[in-house]
Amino acid sequence: MLIRRPRRNRKTAVIRGLAEETTVLTKDLIFPLFLIEGENMKEEVASMPGIYRYSLDLLLGEIEACLKLGLNTFAVFPSLPESKKDHMATESYKENSLYLNALHKIKSSFPEVCIMTDVAMDPYSSDGHDGIYENEEILNDETLEVLGKMALAQAQAGADILGPSDMMDGRVQFMREILDKNNFKDVGIMSYTAKYASAFYGPFRDALDSAPKAGDKKTYQMNPANKREALIEAELDYIEGADFLMVKPALAYLDVISLLENNFDLPIAAYNVSGEYAMVKAAGQKGWLDAEQTMLEVLLSIRRAGAKIILTYFAKEFAQLQQSK
Ligand code: PBG
Repeated sequence: MLIRRPRRNRKTAVIRGLAEETTVLTKDLIFPLFLIEGENMKEEVASMPGIYRYSLDLLLGEIEACLKLGLNTFAVFPSLPESKKDHMATESYKENSLYLNALHKIKSSFPEVCIMTDVAMDPYSSDGHDGIYENEEILNDETLEVLGKMALAQAQAGADILGPSDMMDGRVQFMREILDKNNFKDVGIMSYTAKYASAFYGPFRDALDSAPKAGDKKTYQMNPANKREALIEAELDYIEGADFLMVKPALAYLDVISLLENNFDLPIAAYNVSGEYAMVKAAGQKGWLDAEQTMLEVLLSIRRAGAKIILTYFAKEFAQLQQSK
């Protein structure tokens, strides 16, 4: 006789619902958005079907549509023409720049929006690196000065949560001190804590045209072979004052998400990155898998691994699906 029959809890949709351990909610999602110069511009990113680069006027419309779906948090990334990039990424903190203006405009148009920013030099760097690149090296402490200016400028423009994605040592504390000194003590920091040197960022670098001109990012982003090292990064970010810890990419690093969730009491976020999105979309377009079901399973698995928050290009599609139910 079989006493234990786990299948009893799978008998009907209602019972499966009762036994369900994990749920994904629209409010847990952050939608990355790409901003470009100009007016009335909407360009699809070739390697990310359904994801666009918007000029500010159209970006505002996109945000408004997302708000109606219950999607309130956006991670905004700027795509700059080569002519605006330089060695020191000075455009990143210039008053009235495309990005800072946009943050200000978004916040004044929709005060209820939560804006997350990107703090790293690469969108503004003529070298395509997240830090200052000299003699084939990335200069850590000199880069902090640039990141500090960028962070302050973003806070002044109305950002709610800053997202240092650069992986320089000491950046969280450096930014925290500058923010506090300037009376931005309520501006949060979601640190890209365990950010790996990953091939899954390919489509994003297409979107921003931000691939490194020389070398790679392996001297600052983490080695995909390492897990215990993520604990060191997490501990530092915790001590330095981060409000959220992020793991990136998500799918190939579910074990790292789970590790941080088990060891730290801060909310854990995961970035379901561009390459993970592109794989699902490409296979879906070929009819090789059901893209919608796969999306749901992907998001669920990231939540199940222990991420409370998911940055994902699927956010709007997911929210639309939830609303239509
Ligand atoms: C760079 C940055 C990257 C992403 C977010 N911020 C790419 C990189 O490190 O080269 C990747 C996001 C994605 O692939 O969706 N500071």
